Amino acid sequence: MTAGDPASYRALRSARATHTLDVIDQRALPHAVRMVTIADADTAARAIRDMWIRGAPLIGAVAAFGLSLALQRDPSDVGLDAACRMLLATRPTAVNLRWALERVRGVVQALPPDERADAAWSQAERIVAEDIAINEAIGHAGLAVLRGIAAERGRVNVMTHCNAGALATCGWGTATAPLYLAHAERLPLHVLVSETRPRLQGANLTAWEMAQRRIPYTLLVDSASGLLMQRGEVDLVIVGADRVARNGDVCNKIGTYDKALAAHDNGVPFYVGLPSPTIDWTLASGRDIPIEARGDDEVLTVAGRDERDEAHVVAVAPAGARAINYAFDVTPARLVTGLVTERGIAGTAAALAQLFHRTSPCT
Ligand code: MRU
Repeated sequence: MTAGDPASYRALRSARATHTLDVIDQRALPHAVRMVTIADADTAARAIRDMWIRGAPLIGAVAAFGLSLALQRDPSDVGLDAACRMLLATRPTAVNLRWALERVRGVVQALPPDERADAAWSQAERIVAEDIAINEAIGHAGLAVLRGIAAERGRVNVMTHCNAGALATCGWGTATAPLYLAHAERLPLHVLVSETRPRLQGANLTAWEMAQRRIPYTLLVDSASGLLMQRGEVDLVIVGADRVARNGDVCNKIGTYDKALAAHDNGVPFYVGLPSPTIDWTLASGRDIPIEARGDDEVLTVAGRDERDEAHVVAVAPAGARAINYAFDVTPARLVTGLVTERGIAGTAAALAQLFHRTSPCT
C-alpha cells in the first residue's frame, strides 16, 4: 500500500543541469499554485526568511541547495563561512536549517574550492532523498496507530495543527504521511485541521493538501480544539515539530502546547511526527530552544480573496494596536504520547535515545 506520488505538488524540485530549484510559492496557496525559481543563494535565503517556503525539513533542504548556489559564486573558505552565516540567520527555530548547513559544510570544507559547489549540490540531493524515505517510514510507523484506532472505534478522527505535510517536506510530510497511508487503505479517516493563526498554515496549506487527495476534513478555529476533545470528537492528535530537545520536549507551531494540554486533560493520544534531523541532541530541554518572534502585522491583519478572486489584506484590530507574535511554543515531553520517527515510535526520551543509539537522554 502506498500513499501515492506527491509529485503533483512536490514542494521542491532541483535541476542539476541548470543549478536551479523550483519551489511552490506557499504564500499563494490555496488560491493559486505559483512556482518560483531559485537560482542564487540570496534568493534561497529570502525564500526561507519571507516564508515562500516553510516547514522544518523543507527549510533545511532549500538551505542546503542555497549553500551550493553560494559556492558556485565564491567557493573560498571566506565564501563558505559567509554563506553559512547568511543562510543560518534566516529563521531561528527549526533545527533542520542548522543540521543541513553543518552537514553540507562538513562534506565540502575538506575539498578543493573548485569541487565544493558540485559536492554541495550532491549532498543537498541526498538530503532530499533521505527526507522522502524518512517521511515514508514515519508514515508506516504512524499507520499502525491509526489502524488500531480504526479497529477499536470504527472511525479515525485525527486533529492536526499548522502544516507538517508534503508542503513542509520533500515527500509526504511527517504528520500527514500516516494520514495519506490510512486514506490509501480506506480507513474511515476524518482530519480536523486547525486554522493556525496568524499565518493560517492549517487553513491555507493543510486543508489544500487534504482537498488535493480527497481526504475528508473539517477546518476549525484554533481555540475549538479543547471543546472538540471534551465532546469525544477527536481520537488522536498528530503534529509536526521544528525542534525536539533530547529530553523529548517538542517545539512546534504556536498553539501546539494548548492542544497537548487539552489532549492530556481529555485522554486523547498526542503524537508528533519526528524526522531525526529535527532532534537537537545538543539541547537538554526545550527551555533553551530559540523561539522566533515575527512582526505584529501578521496578527493585526488577515489576508484573503474576495468573491472576484482579488487578494486583500484587511486590518482586524484598532489602528495603533500592538501584538505579540511568537511563532512557536514548547510542549513538555510529559504531554506527548509518542514521537513517531523513521525508526519507530518512542514513548519516552530514553526510548528516543535508544532508537538513535544515543547512550542516555541526560548526557
Ligand atoms: O512557521 P512554519 O510554517 O515554518 O512552521 C511549520 C511548523 O511548525 C511545522 O509543524 C513543522 O515545521 C514541522 S514540518 C514537517
